[in-house]
Amino acid sequence: MDIKEISYMFQNQEIAKDIFYVGVNDRQKYKFENMLPLPQGVSYNSYMIIDQKTALVDTVDISFGDIFIDKIQSQLKGRPLDYLIINHMEPDHSGSIRILRKYYPEIIIVGNSKTLGMVEGFYGLDEKVLEIKDGEVLSLGTHQLQFFLTPMVHWPETMMTYDQTEQVLFSGDAFGCFGTLDGAIIDEDMNIDRYWDEMIRYYANIVGKYGAAVQKALQKLTPLDFKMICSTHGPIWKEYISEVVDMYDQLSRYDSKEGVVILYGSMYGFTELMAETVAQGVSREGIKDIIIHNVSKSDPSVIVRDIFKYRGLIVGSPTYSNELYPEVESLLRKIEIRGVKNRVFGYFGSYTWAGASVKRLATFAETMKWTTAQISVEEKQGLKIDNYQACLELGQQIGKLAKIPFVVIPHCV
Ligand SMILES: Cc1cc2nc3c(=O)[nH]c(=O)nc-3n(C[C@H](O)[C@H](O)[C@H](O)COP(=O)(O)O)c2cc1C
Ligand SMILES: [Fe+2]
Ligand SMILES: [Fe+2]
Repeated sequence: MDIKEISYMFQNQEIAKDIFYVGVNDRQKYKFENMLPLPQGVSYNSYMIIDQKTALVDTVDISFGDIFIDKIQSQLKGRPLDYLIINHMEPDHSGSIRILRKYYPEIIIVGNSKTLGMVEGFYGLDEKVLEIKDGEVLSLGTHQLQFFLTPMVHWPETMMTYDQTEQVLFSGDAFGCFGTLDGAIIDEDMNIDRYWDEMIRYYANIVGKYGAAVQKALQKLTPLDFKMICSTHGPIWKEYISEVVDMYDQLSRYDSKEGVVILYGSMYGFTELMAETVAQGVSREGIKDIIIHNVSKSDPSVIVRDIFKYRGLIVGSPTYSNELYPEVESLLRKIEIRGVKNRVFGYFGSYTWAGASVKRLATFAETMKWTTAQISVEEKQGLKIDNYQACLELGQQIGKLAKIPFVVIPHCV
């Protein structure tokens, strides 16, 4: 097939003057990073700027290397590809670097010192590279690209590229979300409702630990006037820029909205009955968003997402071999690792001969330094009337504490 035919088949959308979308949709992968389910798929976004010099911003997962090369060829129409700008080296974006070098041996790989170290480490490429520093500008002719290093959002080499001419920010993973691009690419051309929760799930699970680094990056971006954010996953933000930036600001400050997550493990239903009772207590305080997760059924990434969304968290666990129920323990580790701040917390548990779960939950509460309910409930064998009352009281205490007079993260659904 010659280039003319390829051009006909791969009509890349022009998203701003001389900037083209050349990314792909992944509708096949079940779990991102082999861990996070993708019910709505994911896109790997890549962009090409056609100027006196041509430049590609980020690549795609190597499983799509073939179609990616076709898209690039169709856009270049026989012209050389001068630069590859790498904002992020995680292989969902850097995976096609080597194949690109094979098709375009003269391409210059542009990145900061950490990026270039990884290009050599991952792909053995150390020639025809251009190291840029924070704030430096690369001219493509009309388009002037300025680089902003944003370390630890969420890898050490992460940076953003700002097209000063078109006021477009290529933000890497930041502001990205799960979900394929179904026809349209820019937010104003689609119904974006389905992306909000997937943005929070993406943030909470992948970037969540690095709130302080995100805050630094946001401060760096403040002076810039951008009219488009092109992230590496999900829609291009144009109409909803301020909402998306606000959401990142709130999530990275660990802000939350009114509501309570109750997560529990249960083998035979005893701890589950306690969870139901606690939820009734929360509801008595007028809290409308109460989300109960059975850790054995809900996906951990969804539970982590909801913990990032809501102010209150109540955890329940049976004692299991003198420990917490294993899936509950695993969730607590995920919360600890992400350093979630400013939550109100309550806990309960059960046992049959020697309780251990409630003690472990008390230790967790101390570690997190959250506001904790004055009571906790520990049940031996079946639920009795005094513990039933205590569960209601626990729920009510958290319900009171979880009340927030204003709504943050307005777009969470
Ligand atoms: C595999 C297994 C291990 C357990 N280990 C303990 C234990 O170490 N100490 C204890 O007091 N109870 C232990 N139990 C009993 C449960 O903690 C207790 O029955 C609990 O109330 C069950 O609640 P659930 O129905 O919500 O799972 C164990 C139960 C199972 C099935
Ligand atoms: Fe990444
Ligand atoms: Fe990514």
